[in-house]
Amino acid sequence: MSAVNDLVRYMPITYLTMTDIGLLLGSVGYDGKPNLMTIGWGLVGVIWYKPIFMVAVRISRYTYKLMEESGEFTVNVPSKEMSEACRICGTISGRDADKFEKTGLKWRRGDFVKAPVVEGCPIVYECKVLYKDVVNLQMLPGNMVETIYPKRDAHILYYGEILKIHGEPKSPP
Ligand SMILES: Cc1cc2nc3c(=O)[nH]c(=O)nc-3n(C[C@H](O)[C@H](O)[C@H](O)COP(=O)(O)O)c2cc1C
Repeated sequence: MSAVNDLVRYMPITYLTMTDIGLLLGSVGYDGKPNLMTIGWGLVGVIWYKPIFMVAVRISRYTYKLMEESGEFTVNVPSKEMSEACRICGTISGRDADKFEKTGLKWRRGDFVKAPVVEGCPIVYECKVLYKDVVNLQMLPGNMVETIYPKRDAHILYYGEILKIHGEPKSPP
């Protein structure tokens, strides 16, 4: 089975959750302490013949520092019961608090990455950064820059090769 056929079976729940309560981006830096950040933007697909999860992280996030230190991440697809945890992980920074303590979420390290795999998530992607690029604000329509980047804190687009997917694949609807 091709990589894209395999991915398609995880995509519906991943995309539906991302546009509903968000996904939990897991990262870890030099100090080994894991962090979670809620994300609403991301893409799953095949590039360079490889299965890829692309996430967009603003340079102002603590997660940005950790991603730069490790070059790896996890994308955890939360269950509906984790809605409050998603709200917390999307409003406070790992600079100021331990989000695992705040949310009660439990974690373990990935099989292929040190970033956290959140227990109880129906799907978890383990990813290693293959490519990254900063959003060039000069290439975006001016009205979008003013709306999305008033502070000019651009996103870094991280293209992670998916090394492992935890969870049961579902047939596409
Ligand atoms: C539903 C939702 C979606 C979000 N999506 C993103 C995103 O895709 N990229 C991003 O940089 N921040 C996003 N955020 C904001 C971060 O989750 C938030 O700033 C977080 O506190 C950053 O945590 P950190 O400083 O520990 O990295 C989102 C927040 C919410 C609530």
